[in-house]
Amino acid sequence: MSVTVRVPAKVNVQLAVGAARPDGFHDLANVFLAVGLYDEVTVTLADGLRVTCEGPDADQVPLDRTNLAARAAEALAVRYGRSPDVHIHIAKDIPVAGGMAGGSADGAGALVACDALWGTRASRVELLEICAELGSDVPFSLVGGAALGIGRGEKLTTLETGGTFHWVFAMAGRGLSTPAVFREFDRLGEGREIPVPVASRELLDALAKGDPDALAAAVSNDLQPAALSLFPELSDTLAAGRSAGALAALVSGSGPTTAFLVRDPGSASKVAQALRTSGTCRTVRTASGPAPGATVLGDRVAS
Ligand code: C5P
Repeated sequence: MSVTVRVPAKVNVQLAVGAARPDGFHDLANVFLAVGLYDEVTVTLADGLRVTCEGPDADQVPLDRTNLAARAAEALAVRYGRSPDVHIHIAKDIPVAGGMAGGSADGAGALVACDALWGTRASRVELLEICAELGSDVPFSLVGGAALGIGRGEKLTTLETGGTFHWVFAMAGRGLSTPAVFREFDRLGEGREIPVPVASRELLDALAKGDPDALAAAVSNDLQPAALSLFPELSDTLAAGRSAGALAALVSGSGPTTAFLVRDPGSASKVAQALRTSGTCRTVRTASGPAPGATVLGDRVAS
């Protein structure tokens, strides 16, 4: 038997970051939107725990027990007193180390897939608890849609969306480490009063109305100056998307993927084409959101 789960990428339409906490994490007001770029995680009963990966960035994915998918299988197995004997195969389409929660998606996907494969039938609350232990963005990968995350980003409230938002994503030639970007945020903020992060009313209204112009006026990412400081060439990518007609251009999460909000699919194709020929990024993709969270695609008999 095997089970396949499809899990979406995310873009942060608002990422408000507070001062570093004593535990090293930062309090956030993190507005997530899931978008239709997906990884597919397939789990199959096996003699031991093993991870394999296919896709354009597969060589950058760790296949040992540091992989969030492996850690998810172990965490569920420990709770239910069983061995995590499973082969996890990741068909990876979400960029690696891109600020689009690709690793988190694989963690949420493996958790839901193992739960179905093993028949452990963990409750939604229990699954969300395990997700939060695995990483700050993992609960959102499970839930999908649109949500506000507070605390480390793991305490979620689902948000209403009144329509589909169209995006273009530009993937960079190298990754950025999330902890390094947060450290740079701390360095740039030294000696300044960092305000308590709060969700923007205008932004939540824009999401609820499905209004791309209002959303474009309200998007923000407090990690962007830190990401640009570590990766200055990203400002050329942002400028290329803006001059091609994007309504808004921002770094996605901790980057280095850049996200461009556009009005409709026609404008997405135009901005995507301009970015492809700009020479400022590695690859370009279009996707729209909100997209559903981790979804079981079906149980399949192993070949
Ligand atoms: O939770 P996660 O493992 O995804 O976080 C990765 C790193 O990002 C943390 O080790 C921390 O350095 C940083 N982080 C943070 N504050 C958050 C979330 C992440 O400082 N709210």
